[in-house]
Amino acid sequence: MQNESTLPIILSGIQPSGKLHIGNYFGAIRQHIDMQEKGRAFYFIANFHSLTSLKNGKALREYTYEVALDYLALGLNPEEATFFAQSDVPQVTELAWILSTLTPVSLMEKGVSYKDKIAAGLIPNIGLFTYPILQAADILIYHSNIVPVGEDQKQNIEICRDLAGKFNRTYEGDFLIEPEEYIVKSVATVPGTDGQKMSKSYDNTLPIFEEPKALKKKIMSIQTDSTPLEEPKDPTTDNVYALISLFATQEKKEEIAQKYRDGGYGYGHAKKELLGLMTDYFAEATERRNELQQHPDRVFDVLHEGAKRAQIQAEKVMQPIREVVGIHKSF
Ligand code: ADP
Ligand code: TRP
Repeated sequence: MQNESTLPIILSGIQPSGKLHIGNYFGAIRQHIDMQEKGRAFYFIANFHSLTSLKNGKALREYTYEVALDYLALGLNPEEATFFAQSDVPQVTELAWILSTLTPVSLMEKGVSYKDKIAAGLIPNIGLFTYPILQAADILIYHSNIVPVGEDQKQNIEICRDLAGKFNRTYEGDFLIEPEEYIVKSVATVPGTDGQKMSKSYDNTLPIFEEPKALKKKIMSIQTDSTPLEEPKDPTTDNVYALISLFATQEKKEEIAQKYRDGGYGYGHAKKELLGLMTDYFAEATERRNELQQHPDRVFDVLHEGAKRAQIQAEKVMQPIREVVGIHKSF
């Protein structure tokens, strides 16, 4: 066993702003779970970040709990990964404030994610504007080395590196570590039921743990072109096939592609195939989730334990920072 301190720190966060969907799974969660043994993993539920868009306490609390359930059901091992809620580590918001005093307004103005969210109709509040500063604090407070995220988060990690460098230069020391993003290129953007990027904001998702009836309805509603059943079809341009490819073995994929090309195979058939494949793929996780749902205290215990471990690491990083910026704690 390698010495703990020589292992890289792997960190990522996910917002609890809705039910997690298969885009989140293939784009992020699967990598988080695969990487939990490759270093000291810290994974957290970014509930402060969700406040930038979600203004409903009951919903936020429920989604937070559900994200915890989902991760545990999907294979997060709390012995391997420190798993917690962002708001349980107060040092994060403390560091975010300090970083904000070093952040040029112009750096935030370049934020692509902010502009995209405003374009999508979100209210331009200051929290949304300074979102990357809080994200930088999330990462820097644990001295994280590797941040597995989707392509859309690349700029936020660059901002994080900028702020770490700025802090270290301003206060002349190696207080913060510049992290690297880890982006899995092989997972192209997962399409939603309408063919756009699957996203909670577009109401086009296939949630990982959807009720069977509702899932069937959503899958049946996937948009396709109007090629008649008997005619040959091109699998490479079809959404249903793109989704099937996420779940099927290579052999199964080729078999279905052939059926598309032969004709006499309709989109309805392909959708049924997708429903079966997706249901089988998550069957074990669904069982684990149902079982865990009977014991909510186990889920809260994991988060509580995770928060304690995360706080210890955060406090180690925060102490010299308080010292060097000249803020002292009176108790
Ligand atoms: P959403 O767009 O549903 O609000 P988030 O922005 O909260 O999703 O994304 C959480 C994680 O899931 C990020 O790492 C993001 O890159 C990944 N992700 C979200 N949607 C997709 C998708 N359609 N395809 C691939 N990855 C995705
Ligand atoms: N912004 C990320 C997203 O929407 C969530 C997030 C918050 C995050 N803090 C983070 C991701 C720190 C990685 C590291 O997906």
